[in-house]
Formats: sequence, structure tokens, C-alpha cells
Amino acid sequence: MDKFVIKGPSILKGKVLISGSKNSALPILAATLLFDKPVIIQNLPRVKDIDTMLNLLKSLGSKIEFFNNKKKVRISKTKNPKYFASYSLLKTMRAGILVLGPLVAKYQKSITSFPGGCVLNGNSGRPIDLHLSALQKLGMKYEIKKGYIHAKSKGKLRGKSIKFPTISVGATQHLIMSAVLSDKKTVLSNSSIEPEVKELTNFLNCAGANIKWIGKRTCQIIGVKSLKETNYTIMGDRIEAGTFCVAATLTKGNLLIKGFNPKTISTELNFLKKTGARFKIFNNEIHIKGPQKIKKINHIITKEYHGFSTDLQPQFMVLLCKAIGKSSITENIFKSRFMHVMELQRLGAKISVKNNKAKIEGNTSFIGAEIMSSDLRASAALVLAAISAKGTSIVSRVYHCDRGYENIEKKLKKIGAKIKRIS
Ligand code: EPZ
Repeated sequence: MDKFVIKGPSILKGKVLISGSKNSALPILAATLLFDKPVIIQNLPRVKDIDTMLNLLKSLGSKIEFFNNKKKVRISKTKNPKYFASYSLLKTMRAGILVLGPLVAKYQKSITSFPGGCVLNGNSGRPIDLHLSALQKLGMKYEIKKGYIHAKSKGKLRGKSIKFPTISVGATQHLIMSAVLSDKKTVLSNSSIEPEVKELTNFLNCAGANIKWIGKRTCQIIGVKSLKETNYTIMGDRIEAGTFCVAATLTKGNLLIKGFNPKTISTELNFLKKTGARFKIFNNEIHIKGPQKIKKINHIITKEYHGFSTDLQPQFMVLLCKAIGKSSITENIFKSRFMHVMELQRLGAKISVKNNKAKIEGNTSFIGAEIMSSDLRASAALVLAAISAKGTSIVSRVYHCDRGYENIEKKLKKIGAKIKRIS
């Protein structure tokens, strides 16, 4: 298992090019199962989860051809589609479940393993009940046998009005793609409106789908017969960009962060403004300078979009540790997403957690230590903390980081971090 050896503190300066959005690419790749014609996807991030999704598509009979250093892929249907999505491919990645609906929509059957993925919710796990119950409303029937969901439908899935009881990114994406080829109209209310959901609807509409947002959280899908050949470029990753914005703020840095739409993190940027960070925003980039002293942010509450993103909560916690004065974070999406706290404490952080609320003392000078990543965004937070810490830190289990950040150590090295990967 690889580790990062990081010597701090460093001031990060220079240019960073953001990779394609992992969480947009994953559902779009799953949606390629709906096509008879080839699909070209560009600006794919070269991260582990994308490899896993492509291997999953291959195992389902898709032909995968790479171009441009694997950042561009052509996916086409072969004569032998398969319907079995194995545990070995789904156990590490929750987004693998998104093949279930498209397989049933296209071939009326699928045997799909329960998925794995980051452990973010303690004993509550990461259920897929919202996905399954909404798919049932479209006419899918299923049984669970030995960890696999055996699903089928009699003919095409049928359009329906469905109100999600809870807002879910994955369930909204899953239902949108499952309804695209259905009979009649589907209306999904209380849907997620995360940019990654809108990116999926943009992609499908480019391919001839008939999807409209008809209310703040209401998405209407009118089924079409088939989807046409499409060439689509994935948007830049807002969570990677937000991570680098925190890095600049944390280290009194000065970064030009390119290749993403800053509007997609406007809520988080407002919080960075409160710390004293200064920035200039352009269409597809941001120039950000960190403050000499990080001012206090009183309270962060994670929420669905346009609220503060749970995927930037661990990184902002690092910032709050170094800010002047006390602050707190309430985590509303994954109520126990605080696995990074114990590791930050090894570096000297003073944080206490009760239920879904963390209280952070502030004014901390981190001192390098051995620390361990527990999940994707936690690993990014630990890397940032180590860069701002005095002395050497060793961050283990960086495979979590590799699932979602493309070449993170190369990008950080280029802007002045002293970071080395060891095996
Ligand atoms: C997506 O996960 C992202 N993953 C996550 O990013 C992100 O943290 C999350 O959305 C929230 O923004 C991908 O896009 C691949 P949810 P998802 O369904 O779809 C509960 C990262 O670091 N729920 O919106 O799994 C669930 O437990 C990852 O890149 C149910 O109860 O999130 C959670 O409390 C981690 N039943 C809440 O809803 C269900 O069937 C929101 O989860 C589904 C979800």
C-alpha cells in the first residue's frame, strides 16, 4: 500500500489544472449502457474509480477504446451484452450500482451485486433503498439472493411520478437514466440538483433524451425510443477545485486554479471569503490568495446543493483548526463523516465530536505525525493538514486518495509541496 511522505510547512504557489469530474463521469459512463450507438467521452479523470467503472462496463460486454492518454474513451456496444455485475467490481465503488437501472431499462434484466464504497455513515451504512423503491415504481421487480439483486421487468420500464422521500444524488441520477427509454412520462420530485446531476441530464439531452427541469427540484423525463451517437466533454471537478482553494487559503498560498466552473462552489467560496482569502473569479478559473491569518468561520452546516458540500467538509475542518477562535461543523448528509478527526488529532488538532456536530478549538499549529486515510475526502484533508504541519508526516492508505484525485502528488509538488509517494 502506497504512502505519502510530506514535509511541511509549505506555501503553495502557481497554476493547477483541474481534472474532469469523477462524480459526473461515473453516472455518465453507466448511462452508456442505454446506447446502441458509440459514445465518446472526453476529459475523463484518470482515477481508480473510473478504471473500476470502465472494467465493469467491459464485463457487461461494452467495447472500450482509449485515446489521448486515456482521457478520451470510445464506448460501443458489442453483440454479446451481459447482465451480471459482479461483487469483485462493485465492492470498492458505490457508483457501480448505477448500472442496475440502465440494464433493466435496456434488456429488462440484471443481476447486480450490492455495492461498496467509502464508509461515511458509521453503522448506518450507505443504503440503496431509495434507488430500489423508486425503480420498483417504474415497473422493476427484484429479489435479493446471496448479496445480489436479481432484477427484471416485463417489457419496458413505465414512466411514473415519483417523489423521493429524501434527496439523494445517486438515486436521482439512477432514476433519470432508467426513465430515459421508458414508455410515457416520468416526473421526479424532491430530486438532487447537484451539478453532477445536471451534467448527466445535459449529456443525455445531447444524445437525444427529452429531460427538462420543470421546478427547483423537479425533473421531467419523456421516454425516447433510442439515444444517438454522442461526443461529450465532462466538466471540471468542483470538489478537486475546492480542495485546492482550501490549500491556497491554508498555506498563505497564491494559486491560479483552472479548468472548472467556480459558480459550482460559490457557497464554499463565500466561506473562504470569511477567512480572509481573496480571489478573482473568471468563467473557467479562479485566482486565489490565502490570508496571513485565517479568520474565523463560526459554523458550517453541510446540506444538499446549493448548500455546503459534504465532500468539502473534511478539507474545511483542517482550515478551521488553524483559524483564529472556536468554530463548529454540523454534518447533515453523512451523519458520522468524521473519521478524519482522530487522525487530525494526531497532528495536534483540538476537536470534539458529539453526534453529527464537531467543535473545533482553532489556533492549532500542526506538528507532523504518522496518520492514516479512512476515505477519499478524509485523505485529501490529511494531505492538506500535513502540508501545513511543521515537520514530516507519513500519510498511509493513500489508495483512498487515488480513487478520486488524479496525480494529486504531482499537482501538489508542482506548486511547492514537499510530497513523495513511497510503496
Ligand atoms: C454522492 O453519493 C457522491 N458520490 C458522494 O461523493 C457525495 O458525498 C454524496 O453524493 C452527497 O453529495 C458519487 O457521486 C459517486 P446520496 P451518493 O445518495 O449518491 C442517504 C465523494 O467523496 N441514502 O446523495 O451515495 C445516504 O445514506 C463521494 O466523492 C439513503 O438513505 O449520496 C446519505 O445519508 C463520497 N438511501 C444521503 O441519503 C439511499 O438509497 C445522501 O446520499 C440513498 C441514499
